Amino acid sequence: MSKSYTIVTGAGGSIGQAITRALAREGHNVIMACRNIAKDSPLCDRLNDECNSKVRIMQLDLSSLDSVARFAQDIHREDIEIDTLINNAGVMLKHYQATQQGVEMTVGVNFVGTYLLTRLLVPTIRQGGHITFTTSLTRYIGKVDHDFFNLTPDNYGRFKAYSRSKLATTLLTAHLAQELTSQGIHVNAGDPGVVDTGMIHMDAWFDPLADRLFRPIISTPEQGAISALCASNSNVSGQIFDKTRHHDIPSKWRNHPHWQWLLDETHRIITPWL
Ligand SMILES: NC(=O)c1ccc[n+]([C@@H]2O[C@H](COP(=O)([O-])OP(=O)(O)OC[C@H]3O[C@@H](n4cnc5c(N)ncnc54)[C@H](OP(=O)(O)O)[C@@H]3O)[C@@H](O)[C@H]2O)c1
Repeated sequence: MSKSYTIVTGAGGSIGQAITRALAREGHNVIMACRNIAKDSPLCDRLNDECNSKVRIMQLDLSSLDSVARFAQDIHREDIEIDTLINNAGVMLKHYQATQQGVEMTVGVNFVGTYLLTRLLVPTIRQGGHITFTTSLTRYIGKVDHDFFNLTPDNYGRFKAYSRSKLATTLLTAHLAQELTSQGIHVNAGDPGVVDTGMIHMDAWFDPLADRLFRPIISTPEQGAISALCASNSNVSGQIFDKTRHHDIPSKWRNHPHWQWLLDETHRIITPWL
């Protein structure tokens, strides 16, 4: 068995870079799971020069279930043991797009692709290891019901899709925490807060004003990374981390009436890749 690695999805993004750099500086071996290898390779090279740890980069497009399955096969083929899986990658798209399976893209990347990746990698996670998901304050306005997958170009709204995906991710965290306790795997979610990254750019007339008023008072990517880093170094499970503090996932989400429905529907989509 090779040495243990921490996998960071979206490792070349704003918060992803901060997470990856912190881990590499602490001496963790890291696999940067990135959609665009050419864009993110220079960071990988820099971290290998700067840090006394091994940093690798591997291609992963969470919108493509073929790509997710290929990534997981490569991990299995190389007999890599995973210390921690940090599911950081995410999107919030201004306009409607769909994955090859016809799932709206935000839900497809943030929830469906991330769920398939996690399912395929669980057997490679060491006992005592961690899975960390990324949630967002928008989980409070998200809806999970029988319309979850019914986003169309006509009814699409970026917050509608994004908040759905983040609530679903929070329900998944609660479910997997319970399921994987017996295997000694810690499953938690990190909430980065509101962070100064491209994601909060609204492509709207008020962006320059918001940039001047809000960007100076919201978190930096390094501050936003703290929640995922603390969750990935904890001895607890089923918690939401807000920087160093954490709390139970509320029972309304642990016992969500539509969770089983969502799980069944998601499995209907991903079964060919399992
Ligand atoms: N910024 C905030 O205020 C905030 C608040 C709460 C939660 N979050 C969450 O924090 C996480 C990181 O966001 P961020 O603010 O750092 O945004 P970001 O800078 O846009 O980073 C997003 C990362 O996800 C990757 N990604 C997007 N689509 C992908 C796909 N199909 N396959 C694989 N990777 C993909 C991006 O890759 P590319 O670089 O190739 O596009 C990028 O590395 C996200 O889950 C986000 O929802 C952010």
